[in-house]
Amino acid sequence: MIKTVEPATGLQGTIALPADKSIAQRSALFALLSPETSSITNYPLAEDPRTALSCVRRLGADVVDDGEMIRITGTGRDGIRVPEEAIDCGNSGTVMRLLAGILAGAGVPAVLTGDDSLSRRPMKRIIDPLSRMGADIQSAGGGLPPLGITREGPFRPIQFRLPVASAQLKSCVLLAGLFGDEPTRVEEPVATRNHTELMLDLPVVRTDGTNVITSSRRQSIPPQNLNIPGDFSAAAFWLVAGTIVPQSDIILPATGVNPTRCAALHILRRMGADIEEEREQQTGKEPAVRLRVRSSQLKPVRIHPEEIPNAIDELPVLCVAMAFADGVSRISGAEELRYKESDRLDAIQKILEAAGVRVEGHPDGLTIYGEPGRKVRGARHDSRHDHRIAMAAAILSLMGGSASEIDNAEAASVSYPEFWSHLDSLAHR
Ligand code: S3P
Repeated sequence: MIKTVEPATGLQGTIALPADKSIAQRSALFALLSPETSSITNYPLAEDPRTALSCVRRLGADVVDDGEMIRITGTGRDGIRVPEEAIDCGNSGTVMRLLAGILAGAGVPAVLTGDDSLSRRPMKRIIDPLSRMGADIQSAGGGLPPLGITREGPFRPIQFRLPVASAQLKSCVLLAGLFGDEPTRVEEPVATRNHTELMLDLPVVRTDGTNVITSSRRQSIPPQNLNIPGDFSAAAFWLVAGTIVPQSDIILPATGVNPTRCAALHILRRMGADIEEEREQQTGKEPAVRLRVRSSQLKPVRIHPEEIPNAIDELPVLCVAMAFADGVSRISGAEELRYKESDRLDAIQKILEAAGVRVEGHPDGLTIYGEPGRKVRGARHDSRHDHRIAMAAAILSLMGGSASEIDNAEAASVSYPEFWSHLDSLAHR
């Protein structure tokens, strides 16, 4: 699908954000591990969370969706069904990596496959610790999916210091650890999103700036009864759009603001963005607020390596904001962006350059030369089938001197199927 995005003169309105993808996928996977019935409201329609549901069904969970609430009755830790066919994880790295941990821990033989993009994503990072835990994992060359998972021998708990700041890797090892009689210990020198720990009530100890999280069979697995908050990663597109497009005023109710997720809020504020927040009633462990963003002039910013994990999914659209700042901005320590649904550093650089923005690429980041109030060149951008790249290109195009086209725009549905209609509902032209 090709989407034409016309320049906008203002963005105004209230947006009901899609529910948080990371929390939704975990709620489905963790519900599988509980023999009780989990009740989840505000479960998103996006493709990745739907993939999580189809995967847990294949593994024996009973999933009933009445349109208002999803009820999942799991198999419990020891009742996971051996799947007869390969399990398709679609586009979702979270589903593949977390499920691999569960299956390796449970000793349930299975094959995990994914789409073209997922089939290019690195899995060696999970194969190494899971192999140490006793699993036997076959992969395509170079540690790429599909993954064939079995465990013949005994389960071995491990102590594991994260070699990359990845919540998927952390969660994978902790989920496998739930099947060990003795604790598995994961050390996290740089904090990454902590939804797994919160949702499973895992013990976390912080020593010398490092989080140490443990999991074992002694840990009971609670059913997941929750109302999923709005996805901060989806909100970020509107926070940037509302800041850079003049005469904008956008309200985002019920936005999840777990501190391990919303560094982009602090980065945008540092740049001078006008973002107000009003605390809302908290229903679960995840805080949510009503955000209001209005247009403002932006200053350049440096995003430091330690901020990257908590802003990782928002970096492409933060690069768009930098193109309109009054000076030169710099991102460093972000090489992980090259291993997402696409090489996001390269993708956003090419998109900004096609629009006439000066960018220098580095192995671990970008330097972006901003100009306040500029009109960028209308261009044809390729999403590379990456949802966040499609949406970041659309936000940039709102500031075009003429219309732009986004190729493979349907990719947005992976996390935000309502994105294009929301954009239409906000934009004045
Ligand atoms: C996610 C963790 C991050 C993030 C991804 C979702 C999760 O990936 O980019 O969109 O749900 O745990 P990494 O763990 O690879 O950094």
